[in-house]
Amino acid sequence: MKRTDVVKIKIDYEGFLHEVETFPNEYRSLMALIFDRISPDDFGDCLGMGKCATCLVQIKNQHHPLTTFDRNEQTTLKKHGILEDGFRLSCQLQIDENLNNLQVEIIRP
Ligand code: FES
Repeated sequence: MKRTDVVKIKIDYEGFLHEVETFPNEYRSLMALIFDRISPDDFGDCLGMGKCATCLVQIKNQHHPLTTFDRNEQTTLKKHGILEDGFRLSCQLQIDENLNNLQVEIIRP
């Protein structure tokens, strides 16, 4: 039987667009999915504690509703000089149906 809760996410990494499919709660966060499926260098150094900002992504379709853990995120973004809207720590984004059709770009520090 075909699953109906597929979450499709487009991830731009170094100019290449990865189209990945997952399910709610298959990964504990968007960072964990990116780490597993794309494995960017030096990504997710603090393992999702919201402190290192190496999992930074830019949201390309910003009207998207996102579910967040919101643990340390604002403090960490400010500490790294990231003050504009649309930049998020992917470790703080839960994989759920709200991420369906999300497009992000991995931003290197
Ligand atoms: S993995 Fe370190 S802030 Fe997200």
